[in-house]
Amino acid sequence: MTYKNLSPELADALKVIAKERVTRTIVPGKDYIPASGKVMYEEDLLLGVDAVMDGWFTGGRFTDAFEKKLADFVGAKRALSVNSGSSANLLAVATLTSSKLGDRALKSGDEIITVASGFPTTINPILQYNCIPVFVDVSVPGYNIDTSMLEKAVSPKTKAIMLAHTLGAPFDLDAVMAFAKKHDLWVIEDNCDALGAEFDGRKTGSFGHLATCSFYPAHHITMGEGGALLINDAELIRIAESMRDWGRDCWCNTGHDNTCGQRFNGQYGKLPFGYDHKYVYSERGFNFKITDIQAAIGLSQLDNLNTFVEKRRKNHRYLKARLEETVGDHIITDTIHPKANPSWFGCTITLKDSFPGNRHELLQYLESKKIGSRLLFAGNILKQPGYLDMPHRVVGCLDNTDLVMNNTFWIGIWPGLNEPHLDYLVETIADYVKNNM
Ligand SMILES: Cc1ncc(COP(=O)(O)O)c(C=O)c1O
Repeated sequence: MTYKNLSPELADALKVIAKERVTRTIVPGKDYIPASGKVMYEEDLLLGVDAVMDGWFTGGRFTDAFEKKLADFVGAKRALSVNSGSSANLLAVATLTSSKLGDRALKSGDEIITVASGFPTTINPILQYNCIPVFVDVSVPGYNIDTSMLEKAVSPKTKAIMLAHTLGAPFDLDAVMAFAKKHDLWVIEDNCDALGAEFDGRKTGSFGHLATCSFYPAHHITMGEGGALLINDAELIRIAESMRDWGRDCWCNTGHDNTCGQRFNGQYGKLPFGYDHKYVYSERGFNFKITDIQAAIGLSQLDNLNTFVEKRRKNHRYLKARLEETVGDHIITDTIHPKANPSWFGCTITLKDSFPGNRHELLQYLESKKIGSRLLFAGNILKQPGYLDMPHRVVGCLDNTDLVMNNTFWIGIWPGLNEPHLDYLVETIADYVKNNM
């Protein structure tokens, strides 16, 4: 790697310090084993320093390079970097409310099909734009939408379907895309936990009209905070770019003026002729942009994405097999769609009725043995304190969603973990089971 601002001698000196910062040894039983974590290399920190030394800070050469490389990785026409996965989800829904989309635009009261067992910010943008989430149950195992219920969920108000690929395992994209096509619905893939996953040999995040990523440290790559919106349609790209950048009509890159050559030469809305194009707003937007320092770190992390995804798959395979051979009679482990090749975020465990003990106690036991665990986020969002009075519709029953809320959790397979950590996880769970028999 060559750096614009770091001489080879300076780069070597910085690498020594960087190595100390990124080297992390976790000794099972002695150190805490988190359910998720980031893996950084010296190069990631050095590229961040190179970006700092540009003295530019806002979107620039690293942001351009990051967006291009991410779009190529997923197979999307455009990747638009934003400051979090939650912002990406909000931007996705916001984009679909643009009046430029005419009758196809989302409007207050429109229905969006989703699931209740997931992360809150997959659902929040639906509510924030006064649309109605329509909740369909999930399958267990699988933890993705039960697509056999989709037809029952449609109403004249249905406009979109917005779903996450749960913990890295793709939902049935054959069924969802065919359903969306039949009913002319927008599809938003929340790909925040699944970067690198494939369905039928094609990357998730490239199927829907819009898809989102998160680069928070728990995710497949990180830039601290960060996210992205993936887009294929030229009209949606233009709207989303504007929405991300305050709603401006102008498309100059940060720090540049008059790219169109018509800066003082246009007629917009009811503004006076020649109103500076830089200050013309054709959408009601946000500022979700990232810094070039974040982009530099993300760009460097992208170099290792394939390796990270493979390690996650290897760890998941090993952990699932070991769990099944030791405590398999008492738990349900992950099952995937035959066309899915997940990019795992975690390894899911659902306790069967026959499980000796209960989840509440087990998670505390794991914590006492220095093992981190995570619930499947909100469990059933309908039961969360902030959502008790939300406008919504439920299709059929949410029995499996309640099962997830009561009996499911996940543990780590992130690339910083190796077989000894996973063996310790399995043995600790097996000990708990033995103690309660
Ligand atoms: C499925 C899903 N969507 C969205 C998000 C939000 O991402 P962020 O933390 O970057 O806002 C998360 C967070 O982990 C998530 O799991």
